[in-house]
Amino acid sequence: MNERPELCVWDDEGSLARAVAEYVVRVGSEAIASRGRFDLALAGGSTPKAAYRLLQDGDVGQAIDWSLVRFFFGDERCVAPTDEQSNYKMAKETLLDPLQVRPYAVFRMLGEAEPAEAARAYAETLQHELGVEPVLDLVMLGMGADGHTASLFPGTDPTVEDAALVRAPWVEKLATHRITLTPHVINSARSVVIAVQGTAKADTLAAVLDGPYRPAEYPIQIVAPRDKRLRWFLDRAAAARVVPLK
Ligand code: 6PG
Repeated sequence: MNERPELCVWDDEGSLARAVAEYVVRVGSEAIASRGRFDLALAGGSTPKAAYRLLQDGDVGQAIDWSLVRFFFGDERCVAPTDEQSNYKMAKETLLDPLQVRPYAVFRMLGEAEPAEAARAYAETLQHELGVEPVLDLVMLGMGADGHTASLFPGTDPTVEDAALVRAPWVEKLATHRITLTPHVINSARSVVIAVQGTAKADTLAAVLDGPYRPAEYPIQIVAPRDKRLRWFLDRAAAARVVPLK
């Protein structure tokens, strides 16, 4: 990787979740103050759930006017929105419904549709809502133990040269298609936050942050937002093998 991005390490999953939630509120408040709205792409998987629950309860989430927030998604599984595997379902239950977010402020990827058509439709949505060159205020990401992020998996050849906005790659290891924002859209965001927790990811995280730049093997290494507003939020378990900065 290029120079080391900013790492924030927290003692445990609970303090990591709170830090992520507070960061989302901080970036969102800045976006609303300067542009009157906050365009946020949510992460899927399990790590963000605790942060989403904190955002919808009083002491963290109250600092932002949620009626000025529009919710997008970083990726989606090719399942119905009611499926337990759906990132939309997870966000709906842990964040969107508790906040009573209006349906018109939520832009989900159509996991139930034919994958290539879902990717095309989402690219159209991004351009309709954000302009021809869509710029999100914040993209929330996680990292898999194989070094994937969003649904940019090893073996799917994600590249920064790909001018597409959304892809629906076949993911061999999962034997399924996924729908995902491309590195182009992620790196066009004003801010990106990656939250990683747990011992299971410590070796991969060390390879991603301290090892050679091999994005074909570790697609998350592609994440490098243009104005360098990338934050890694880690718990001590995940950061255990990362070389401490001098
Ligand atoms: C998904 C996510 C994916 C996730 C990582 C980490 O759809 O699964 O978008 O990129 O962030 O797989 O997942 P966990 O947080 O569950 O470890």
